Amino acid sequence: WVLMVTAQTPTNIAVIKYWGKRDEKLILPVNDSISVTLDPAHLCTTTTVSVSPTFDQDRMWLNGEEISISGGRFQSCLREIRSRATDVDDKEKGIKITKKDWEKLHVHISSYNNFPTAAGLASSAAGFACLVFALGKLMNVKEDHSQLSAIARQGSGSACRSLYGGFVKWIMGKDDKGTDSLAVQLADEKHWDELVIVIAVVSSRQKETSSTTGMRDTVETSLLLQHRAKEVVPKRILKMEEAIKNRDFASFAQLTCTDSNQFHAVCLDTCPPIFYMNDTSHRQAPIISLVEKWNRAEGTPQVAYTFDAGPNAVLIARNRETAALLIQKLLFCFPPNSDADLNSFVLGDKSI
Ligand code: DP6
Repeated sequence: WVLMVTAQTPTNIAVIKYWGKRDEKLILPVNDSISVTLDPAHLCTTTTVSVSPTFDQDRMWLNGEEISISGGRFQSCLREIRSRATDVDDKEKGIKITKKDWEKLHVHISSYNNFPTAAGLASSAAGFACLVFALGKLMNVKEDHSQLSAIARQGSGSACRSLYGGFVKWIMGKDDKGTDSLAVQLADEKHWDELVIVIAVVSSRQKETSSTTGMRDTVETSLLLQHRAKEVVPKRILKMEEAIKNRDFASFAQLTCTDSNQFHAVCLDTCPPIFYMNDTSHRQAPIISLVEKWNRAEGTPQVAYTFDAGPNAVLIARNRETAALLIQKLLFCFPPNSDADLNSFVLGDKSI
């Protein structure tokens, strides 16, 4: 027999960034972060996990190719979920698995991303969140989403925020073991449903410095990061929570853009410096000045921009009309026959 579960998890985009760990193994961050979860129709991972007595080892395929899961992050997630497995009694299929059986049974995992892997579109976020959620369902784990988020966090920090839709906060926590470093939902996907997220994929190539190594270098060398984590982010988190609660786009946009810019400033303050933005700045700079000029001309922000550890621009428009205008303006900047490989726009309502 084979028992199977399929789950789908969207990616999330941080509007207050996570950058820097205080514990690398448990993935505990140096500051809280806040994100929006995208609509699963656009940027998501679909994962099928299966179990059968005929499987002789745990194996995983990503986009059809087998990958190694011997690394600590996969093993932590598998171990944490397995240790919480409970009895399964599938009467329809006549399959009974006891808590004890789970210790010996092996799983096969097959995962697909509908967007470029490791191009700064947070594929690890959707990937680990989906893996943990699907395994939890398969093994009849009773933990709630927040407790599952603390497991997904051990796969990739940003993954913990993809367990919820809408607006999500990753609380950094205080405990050395990480039990209180988990995600909570600030507002669900219906709370602010006029917002439209447009992702300008300016390059789908893999990023040059992985988040993990970049963060390590930043923690070791950047004084600006210390200031950011202790002085700036705690206040910004409170203001962002307020902006989300009141659907205050002016404040939301100002905080989002400023935080993205400070994250990249911290990257530049790292030794050796990390140039996530400058990699394709001839494509990013026009997008930033387009948004800045437009917002200034209107007297109140229409669009917010944020950039992660890759070249692609994430733009958040205050409503559908603004999003349509934004796409026109972007196409004017990068006509289809220009040399820029600005090849797709992804429209997403933030909902799960
Ligand atoms: C810039 O979650 O990919 O996207 O925890 O080492 O796996 P690891 O890093 P990861 O870092 C994401 C960094 C970011 C900002 C964010 O999503 O908050």
